[in-house]
Amino acid sequence: MDLELKGIGMDSYEWREEAAQNSLNRLLPRFENSHETPLADIPIQWDDFKRRLNREWERLFICLHELYGWQYDFFYTLEQVLGLLIDSWLDRPEAMHLLDKQREADPFWYLSEDVAGIVLYVDLFSNNLAGLRKHIPYFEKLGVNYLHLMPLFSVPHGENDGGYAVSDYRSVNPDLGTMDELAGLAVELRERGISLVLDFVFNHTSDEHKWAQKAKSGDPEYMNYYLTFKNRIVVDQYQENLRDIFPTIRKGSFTWNNDLQRWVWTTFNSYQWDLNYSNPAVFCAMAEEMLFLANQGVEVLRLDAVAFIWKRLGTDCENLPEAHTIIQAFNAMARITAPSLLFKSEAIVHPDEIIKYVHPEECQLSYNPLLMALLWEALATREVKMLEHAMIHREYLPAGCAWVNYLRCHDDIGWTFDDEDARHLGIDPQAHRKFLNDFYTGKHPGSFARGVPFQFNPDTGDLRISGTLSSLAGLEDAIEKKDNDMIELAVRRINMLRSIQVSVGGIPLLYAGDEYGVLNDYTFLSDPIKVSDSRWVHRSKKQWEAAEDLTDTDTLEWRFFHEMAKFFKLRRQSPALRNGGMTVIDTGNPHLFGYLRESQGQRLLIINNFSEFDQVIKAGRLLAAGVTQDAHEIFTQSAIHARKDLVLDGYRYMWIDTSDKNSAPSPS
Ligand code: GLC
Repeated sequence: MDLELKGIGMDSYEWREEAAQNSLNRLLPRFENSHETPLADIPIQWDDFKRRLNREWERLFICLHELYGWQYDFFYTLEQVLGLLIDSWLDRPEAMHLLDKQREADPFWYLSEDVAGIVLYVDLFSNNLAGLRKHIPYFEKLGVNYLHLMPLFSVPHGENDGGYAVSDYRSVNPDLGTMDELAGLAVELRERGISLVLDFVFNHTSDEHKWAQKAKSGDPEYMNYYLTFKNRIVVDQYQENLRDIFPTIRKGSFTWNNDLQRWVWTTFNSYQWDLNYSNPAVFCAMAEEMLFLANQGVEVLRLDAVAFIWKRLGTDCENLPEAHTIIQAFNAMARITAPSLLFKSEAIVHPDEIIKYVHPEECQLSYNPLLMALLWEALATREVKMLEHAMIHREYLPAGCAWVNYLRCHDDIGWTFDDEDARHLGIDPQAHRKFLNDFYTGKHPGSFARGVPFQFNPDTGDLRISGTLSSLAGLEDAIEKKDNDMIELAVRRINMLRSIQVSVGGIPLLYAGDEYGVLNDYTFLSDPIKVSDSRWVHRSKKQWEAAEDLTDTDTLEWRFFHEMAKFFKLRRQSPALRNGGMTVIDTGNPHLFGYLRESQGQRLLIINNFSEFDQVIKAGRLLAAGVTQDAHEIFTQSAIHARKDLVLDGYRYMWIDTSDKNSAPSPS
């Protein structure tokens, strides 16, 4: 090393490379020599581990140094981290080591057109894990191979934010089963080609977690696991820049705790205590929990509430650079110990911020809340300009990453589009949000939607929307009015949204119940634990009796289910739909959203009509989009005449194969 570069205050970080190497050279032999089974005695696998460790250590070191390098005991932190990497790797089941190998050979498997997902609450879907196991054929029939089970860990009785207040990351809620059962389920799913996805709720624990309990008992080590304040003045200083996430439940982000006689940082509910990541012990403890979950057979972790994990006075404490550094450090650790593990980011924030979490070295996958919100926006306005604009300017992800495209999930819909984008298109963003909220709560004249308001904030006028896919798309209203034409329109709306969800690029993720068109469930209104959270309107228990209806071809449930299964099947059969390569085209019609998908020798032009009326795309536009003589539409198997205008009737979607040779197999 150049001696002049040594020392504090230099702006070149070159020294870190050498420091990283030095730390590893010092630490690793200690572990190699101190284990009961000398690590080198398992030569092949240990070499594999060491190869990954050598590859990733510098990046991990740099992240850790940025976060904790200023603390006097940084070398101890490094030692802890290396120790837990090795221990977790030693605990990793053989089957997972095998999967790691497989995934390392095919690292981008999740970009494939084969991947399609479903997300569900175990208790609502099948009572418990044993029940879920029996329903694996249901997933196979539907055609999903990515199964996200919503938080199923031990939680406080009563309110627990739908499982997002975790009391123990290592035990499953006893009402649902055990950790062993979960690990067994993961094996069975994997044998059937289905990847298990779980939440990693890492911004906060419940106030019943043992760390919180020790903190409450005054243990200073654990008090430092959370962000607590004696002084209200400091709390107020932080509070000045924070937004309320659940304003109808509670004002402010802090909760007074009597045991502690201190204010506790609680971004969400008062029983969800934010963790203090500026304490390296918290980082290590949570990394350990993460790798523990990976060892249970989890292939993807949904990183919950990523935006909030780092706080700094004077900022809104969202999306701070350190939040990214923490995830990057977790990512490097996963690459070393559990290389098949992927992260999905849940950042429901401004589009400019969402995208910053998506990177092969951070989260390989991300929810796509912008697409979701703008699909609903276009459905309400019947115009696609905001959608088109966003898809042209905001959709591109780094290579090796994918969006997770959803229409509905267990949460509300927030109108997260960029205000400047709206203004650029001549739309007043605030007035437009108000219109969308009126539309989706059914207040706007002529609205087909039956949404329920969520978290109205009178100070800002903000409001979000709850409701199921079908109720928001008009089915509930139509059924109630017993109007068959309206029912048909609602079904067509839903299928048009699905057409985009499965073809636009990324992993389509169904919210369970939507596959058979479940409507809002208002029973939460009479449950004191749920009544203040309208998201329960779209969290209903699956009625398997109704699902048996799926054999009755006359029911809407049957139709929805089979149409969904057909979408997934066609997706699997369409190599063009591999992730990447999406180009929005100018359809010349404000109601038609069109794009090209091209990959692996196939080229599809996909057009979706957002209005209930016939819409035309001119022959010239089709020609410009590459529609040639022998193009054909995949769903209807009809020929598309080049040089002729094309008419799409209300809510019609068309997948037009414009490959040189029409290679896409036809649906059966
Ligand atoms: C995420 C979850 C949401 C939960 C919150 C707090 O946003 O999706 O349901 O309330 O995190 O954990």
